[in-house]
Amino acid sequence: MAAPGLNSLGKLDSANLNGGQKLAVKYFTVAVVLFGAQILFGLLAGIQYLKPDFLFGILDFSVNRMVHINALVVWLLFGFIGSVYWMLEDESGIPVVGLGLGNLIFWIFTLAVAAVVVVYLLVQVGPGEHSTIWLINEGREYIEAPRWADIGIVVCVLTFFYNVAATFAKGRYTGVGGVLVLDLIALFGLYLAGMFYTPNVSVDQYWWWWVIHLWVEATWEVLVGCLMAYGLMLTLGVRRKIVETWLYIEVALMFGSGILGLGHHYFWIGTPEYWFTIGGFFSALEPVPLVAMVVHSVFDAGAHKMKNTNHPALAWIIAHAFGNFFGAGVWGFMHTLPQINLYTHGTQWSASHGHLAFFGAYATLVIAFLYIALQKWRGNVWMSGGLAGAWKWKWAMILLNLGMVGMVMAMLISGYEQSQIERAIEGSGWMGYFTAQAHPWFVQGMWWRQIFGWMFAAGFVLLAWDLLTIGGKEKRLALQHAEPAAA
Ligand code: HEM
Ligand code: HEM
Ligand SMILES: [Fe+2]
Repeated sequence: MAAPGLNSLGKLDSANLNGGQKLAVKYFTVAVVLFGAQILFGLLAGIQYLKPDFLFGILDFSVNRMVHINALVVWLLFGFIGSVYWMLEDESGIPVVGLGLGNLIFWIFTLAVAAVVVVYLLVQVGPGEHSTIWLINEGREYIEAPRWADIGIVVCVLTFFYNVAATFAKGRYTGVGGVLVLDLIALFGLYLAGMFYTPNVSVDQYWWWWVIHLWVEATWEVLVGCLMAYGLMLTLGVRRKIVETWLYIEVALMFGSGILGLGHHYFWIGTPEYWFTIGGFFSALEPVPLVAMVVHSVFDAGAHKMKNTNHPALAWIIAHAFGNFFGAGVWGFMHTLPQINLYTHGTQWSASHGHLAFFGAYATLVIAFLYIALQKWRGNVWMSGGLAGAWKWKWAMILLNLGMVGMVMAMLISGYEQSQIERAIEGSGWMGYFTAQAHPWFVQGMWWRQIFGWMFAAGFVLLAWDLLTIGGKEKRLALQHAEPAAA
């Protein structure tokens, strides 16, 4: 890596980046903005749990919730696409093929997302007609975007996929590159399962879960496995042979358990009974690869005595390994057996798991890549021990993680109360629902969720400030590894 002129060290300068990386920082920028929007709408939805009148008729709960979770999915996708473009030239050894097209698609994608959100906000209620699916909202949780945008998304991701596959094909295919390309086929292919319309809700849910579950518990996991492999080579100088061997093992375990683990969403939607056994068994195995990922990153960090070139990035990679294990593995396992899920299904217990899993497994890793990007953008600046202004990234990390854990515990308490009162005692009836919602334990849990939500939001503000300034006061060049990453 050529050292930049020392006088530009610490300054944001796109001349430090290759073509793929210049495009990546655009994706990263939009990702951070959408992350902020996600938090804002989450806070509004949370207030409405406590004061149901709040903004009623102006910005309804249904809309806030929808924007909250759609922004989540989209910012993570932008973060992933950015991360892949970030590593593409390093991994393949050649400039990105079709970069001009990639840039054009970035703008189309971003404008489409903006248009969809504006329509969500402007048309909050109305008749559900066929045109609604095309123009306003498809009504499928997490991926509510109307069909015109669906088609646009498919075109955008096809272009992205072409750029990635063609670049690896023309350059060199590493193990990471090979796994990544195969995984992207599955990841984007599955999106199609959430696009067609059927009036039967059971059938609709059956296919919709192919997108949601097989994304977060299979194809996204493999994608972040590839990103983590690259991140560990870069920040710790771990040898390629080691990370790729782990990657193959993790991928095999993840697909082995995650694909049929899909059955844990087929317990109560009108699908045949054999799903109890299949879903219960395979989803119970899903934590196994997540343990492997923790062992992997802790082992690598230990073997390198934590000598790393980018402290914030490695800290977030470790947070990812643990967050993935606890949020997806432990919190998922808690309610994945049908005997338990009978009581917990659709309570705040699910929301508790959803928050910890999405944050722990995915938000953390995208944040790690933001720090990897900023280091190079500022001329490969020092980001190890004694970094000037390091308190900001550390406090952002503490507030975000504590805020998240606090919210998750609060929701878990509310969820326990719902399972006990609404389900076990009142037998899932209409009255049981309201009795549970009015119970002080439930209400207090929702208050604590909100309080910790503010802490999380404060962490985000600090994170954004840190991202704008980190390394700006450093005049040292990044720590170099004694051994080359690619052995
Ligand atoms: C990073 C990976 C994961 C993410 C992001 C994630 C996220 C979510 C989300 C958001 C929901 C709520 C869906 C809804 O709106 O109805 C959910 C439901 C569920 N998840 Fe996960 N999950 C992950 C991994 C896992 C794992 C590994 C397991 C099992 C070991 C698991 C078990 C479940 C179960 C059983 C439900 C259904 C809850 C209910 O019946 O209400 N999840 N997950
Ligand atoms: C300021 C912080 C946040 C607050 C106050 C908040 C609040 C909320 C609220 C009120 C809901 C609706 C729950 C319901 O329908 O019962 C929700 C859903 C959700 N939020 Fe958040 N949220 C915050 C941050 C986050 C973050 C950082 C993530 C992930 C990285 C996230 C992921 C989700 C998911 C996946 C759901 C759907 C859960 C389900 O259906 O089970 N939220 N959030
Ligand atoms: Fe699942």
